[in-house]
Amino acid sequence: MTLLTYLRRKLGLTGTKLGCAEGGCGACTVMLSRYQTHTNQLLHYAVNACLAPLCSLHLVAVTTVEGIGSVARKLHPVQERIAKAHGSQCGFCTPGIVMSMYALLRNNPKPKMADVEEAFHGNLCRCTGYRPILEGYKTFTVEGGCCGGRGRENGCCMTNGNGVEESSNKDDDEATSLFNPADFAPLDPTQEVIFPPELMSLTKGQRSASLRFHGERAVWLQPNSLDEFLRLKSEHPDARVVVGNTEVGIEVKFKNMVYPVILAPAFIPELNKVTQTEDGIVFGAACTLSHMGAVLKQAVQTLPPHQTEVFLAVLEQLRWFAGLQIRNVAAVGGNIMTASPISDLNPVFMAAGCKLTLMDKDGSRVVHMDDGFFTGYRKTILRPQEILLSIELPYSKKSQFVSAFKQSPRREDDISIVTAAMNVTFTPGTDVVEDLKLSYGGMAATTVLAKKTANRLLKKRWGEELLQDACSLLAQEMILDPSVPGGMVTYRRTLTLSLFYKFYLTVLQKLRAQGVAVEEVPSDCLSAAEIFHPETPSSVQVYQAVPEGRSQDDSVGRPMMHLSALKQATGEAVYCDDVPLYENELYLALITSTKAHANILSVDASAAERMPGVVCCVFAEDIPGCNATGPIAYDETVIANRQVTCVGHIMGAVVADTQLHAQRAAKAVKVQYEELQPIVTIQEAIAAKSFYQPIRTLQKGDLEAGFEQADHILEGEMHIGGQEHFYLETNVTLAVPKGEDGEMELFVSTQSAAKTQSLVAKALGVPANRVVVRVRRMGGGFGGKESRTTVLSTVVAVAANKLKRPVRCMLDRDEDMLITGGRHPFYGKYKVGFMNSGKVVALDVSYYSNTGNSTDLSLSVMERALFHMVNSYSIPNVRGRGFLCRTNVPSNTAFRGFGGPQGMMICESWMSDVAQSLGRPAEEIRRLNLFVEGELTPYNQTLDQITLDRCWDECLSRSGYQERRAAVDIYNSQNRWTKRGLTIIPTMFGISFTAVFLNQAGALVHIYTDGSVLLTHGGTEMGQGLHTKMVQVASRVLGIPCSKIHISETSTNTVPNTSPTAASASSDLNGGAVQNACETLNERLQPYKNKNPKGSWEDWVTAAYFDRVNLSANGFYK
Ligand SMILES: Cc1cc2nc3c(=O)[nH]c(=O)nc-3n(C[C@H](O)[C@H](O)[C@H](O)COP(=O)(O)OP(=O)(O)OC[C@H]3O[C@@H](n4cnc5c(N)ncnc54)[C@H](O)[C@@H]3O)c2cc1C
Ligand code: FES
Ligand code: FES
Repeated sequence: MTLLTYLRRKLGLTGTKLGCAEGGCGACTVMLSRYQTHTNQLLHYAVNACLAPLCSLHLVAVTTVEGIGSVARKLHPVQERIAKAHGSQCGFCTPGIVMSMYALLRNNPKPKMADVEEAFHGNLCRCTGYRPILEGYKTFTVEGGCCGGRGRENGCCMTNGNGVEESSNKDDDEATSLFNPADFAPLDPTQEVIFPPELMSLTKGQRSASLRFHGERAVWLQPNSLDEFLRLKSEHPDARVVVGNTEVGIEVKFKNMVYPVILAPAFIPELNKVTQTEDGIVFGAACTLSHMGAVLKQAVQTLPPHQTEVFLAVLEQLRWFAGLQIRNVAAVGGNIMTASPISDLNPVFMAAGCKLTLMDKDGSRVVHMDDGFFTGYRKTILRPQEILLSIELPYSKKSQFVSAFKQSPRREDDISIVTAAMNVTFTPGTDVVEDLKLSYGGMAATTVLAKKTANRLLKKRWGEELLQDACSLLAQEMILDPSVPGGMVTYRRTLTLSLFYKFYLTVLQKLRAQGVAVEEVPSDCLSAAEIFHPETPSSVQVYQAVPEGRSQDDSVGRPMMHLSALKQATGEAVYCDDVPLYENELYLALITSTKAHANILSVDASAAERMPGVVCCVFAEDIPGCNATGPIAYDETVIANRQVTCVGHIMGAVVADTQLHAQRAAKAVKVQYEELQPIVTIQEAIAAKSFYQPIRTLQKGDLEAGFEQADHILEGEMHIGGQEHFYLETNVTLAVPKGEDGEMELFVSTQSAAKTQSLVAKALGVPANRVVVRVRRMGGGFGGKESRTTVLSTVVAVAANKLKRPVRCMLDRDEDMLITGGRHPFYGKYKVGFMNSGKVVALDVSYYSNTGNSTDLSLSVMERALFHMVNSYSIPNVRGRGFLCRTNVPSNTAFRGFGGPQGMMICESWMSDVAQSLGRPAEEIRRLNLFVEGELTPYNQTLDQITLDRCWDECLSRSGYQERRAAVDIYNSQNRWTKRGLTIIPTMFGISFTAVFLNQAGALVHIYTDGSVLLTHGGTEMGQGLHTKMVQVASRVLGIPCSKIHISETSTNTVPNTSPTAASASSDLNGGAVQNACETLNERLQPYKNKNPKGSWEDWVTAAYFDRVNLSANGFYK
């Protein structure tokens, strides 16, 4: 069991969140503290609770977000500052971010901004965008001016100072400061929770105790001495050694690996020892990467520079190695022994020729880490009884240079595409190569040495000729099969050369610095040899200031903190999966198709049904109502029974007592398929004419005449990929049958409560009035929870209905990504006619979207793409056509912008083409084509009071566009290998639903006799602050402070028939409904205000109540 499961399920501490279960998002961050007996040190470190085995925490103190502060008790400064700096939107990431910051401050109350950034490499936030988070936390840093509680008489300088930067470029009606640091409680490190003294004394007294934990499928053995470890390894040669569990944890969770015996040697002193020898520094195999980094940094500071080339290369790799939470537990031995072909450290260890000490109960041997160490994919020369004891990192020599490189899709916390380390030694005082080792990861099943290349370069001089030889030799030696896992074959092969080129330039510079006569690196190539150094982030936010004279009580237009921010920062905000377990609750796991297109021949669930904890399986025949579903057309199944049309298609479910049991059993269900030809890509769909109907056309003007008139005609195409929503909280539903009249209550993380209600009712065969859907808040939605949430919630409801027991399911991240679709990939084909002046006169464009295996909302998405096909430009003759490609991928769906971005992107592609073909600056051509006052859009909307031209000119001048453009051009002319870019793009985005009937909203407002107000409206809260805005509206209309108004949740039994919270219109629509309801109440209260003009709100409410006035009103807006 992981620490996260224990916290959430056993202790009910739900502040720590589950975002990915694989150490990648940081939502589960907690702080561990332990007393290390062999160094007599108390360690505090942030870890991912989702990967921390509970068994590994003996004598360890765990601090969760609940432990450091609460709204009711007292907020910790890290909780207060992220909330008040507007650093929390949906808030699902917030507890993890709070705990990363807390752990940093426990170790370093006065960090630098760079420390803060490093601490957050392992934390993802999908809503807030990091800037406000960093701004809030900057107040703790040296740069932000915080003294760490020691600077001023009153404890902390922040109580007087102002850590917010002022923009020099702002107008009088603009403001920049969202918070005043002087309002923050100071950080006082002396007030932190201490390490429990009982644990300290137990730790000191337990030197000799070893541990044994028995689980359902595995036994965990924690030896306390090296001898015992070696003995156990000899008794259990197949046992898995676990230190950080960052590799084994993933194997067990995602690759179904079962390890019956686990050996946990993390606390054995010999495996944690660090010793300096004559040749280098020896690290015990269980040393964490963070510890190794700290030791190497120290060594770099104290040793002569020429000795630390290897250490610097390791440190460079550690900069980009996972997040801090992983590095705090992952062991150096774990990285070596995982033997991953894309390990970031193994290439350095191999290029440096590190020495490894291997040991079994009969003795030890020392081997060099060379190309003989890895014997195959994830295999090494270690014998089954052997363990890795330590690794020695050698000192480098005066004429030796070492570099390491990592190329990954994202710089921080990502797996490598290619990783490399290079080590060259010269004959002293010359540029003649004496020894060379080039080591690569990502180019074979193991880390490899480019031996042939290196050997052929020996005795050569470090110059242009060597470079040419190296490139052609590497191209011959570093080959990859076209079908190699990971793909990107050409790119990976090119990287082996370009990384060598970087090394070549770096070494040239270092040789010159040592006075060796080598050619100078040309100035325009220097940037290729630079090590990436991120700049300390700085930022400024400008927003409209509150107009002079506005009453302090009027909160509209004021930058109000998100209403839930404090609760989000303390972990008290309740998300769907945080709802406490019902006594007889069960858990559901989905059975999904592994084929893209196939007939289902048979499904055998007998093995699954016999597995521990399993209660039953659910299939299509368990659906009492209708198996056809879908948000607009009912063209998909709740549960597939005859055919599957995508990988991830739901074919059934297993219900069990726990998530683990349900998921294990779901994997044991056997399905026989008859495979059919799938269509996967847009191009395949076009070739097969596989389209959903209708094909939409939007047309204006005379296309033929337009092209005839044009001086030039240009044709082109553009492909746009898809995108995963990656809301931090995955899809989750808890369905609770109420036991009477077919009633069911569902807690769902959805943007569309009413659609969930109607589709669940349809599947259960009951009227909608028996189903209540409740949404308190979502951990992000981004359109992904507009319609696809029903795919899960209907199945969970069917299971709950079958068993008459509450059933819950929160999808794992991989399941969510597999099942729920994303942004539509688009393909655009265009023909554009334009004049010599740059004026575009004709456009014929066809859009194709990869719609997937059902229509979902795709027709509306395509319509919106067509509405945006000319973006902000006036094109007199235009035709756009939209094709929905029917493919065998999970149905794609709404995503921020809803087709608008794809429509505009393709438009901007041809606009750039036009500018390029005329050889004119793109901004000039864009400006020339902008809509002007009174013109008609292709969808016949007259544009009045248009501000496009003013907005464009202001943007250009306020951004200093031309000066920046000139600077970019100079930089680009001076740098051959790195380039900068700058562009300005207008956007004209249509808001509100294109299906007119959806533009309606309702609200329900109750005033209670104590004057407090309960507000409900049809919109859902997913981090965008809708509830906060609705409270502001009610506050202004009722004329009472926001503190008197509360929103609890969105529910179908308070406001019926709600439209999804979408289309950039929820504040307008629901705000209108709230205003309407509040105005009704105002009218009812007016007589009492008239009678008692000096009375208070409470006086008027009480008077109205005693006069038998209805203090509840609903509102409506369309
Ligand atoms: C989110 C995330 C990000 C990551 N990022 C990176 C990255 O950027 N670069 C990278 O290279 N890797 C990365 N990894 C992989 C992993 O973190 C590292 O390989 C790590 O060093 C493994 O150490 P561990 O202690 O957690 O290993 P564990 O999971 O505890 O063990 C891993 C393996 O090593 C064996 N083993 C451990 N110690 C010994 C020993 N003393 N003797 C014999 N066998 C032993 C175990 O039996 C097991 O097979 C990442 C992993 C995660 C989850
Ligand atoms: S890192 Fe643990 S849930 Fe994502
Ligand atoms: S606020 Fe960070 S993920 Fe939503």
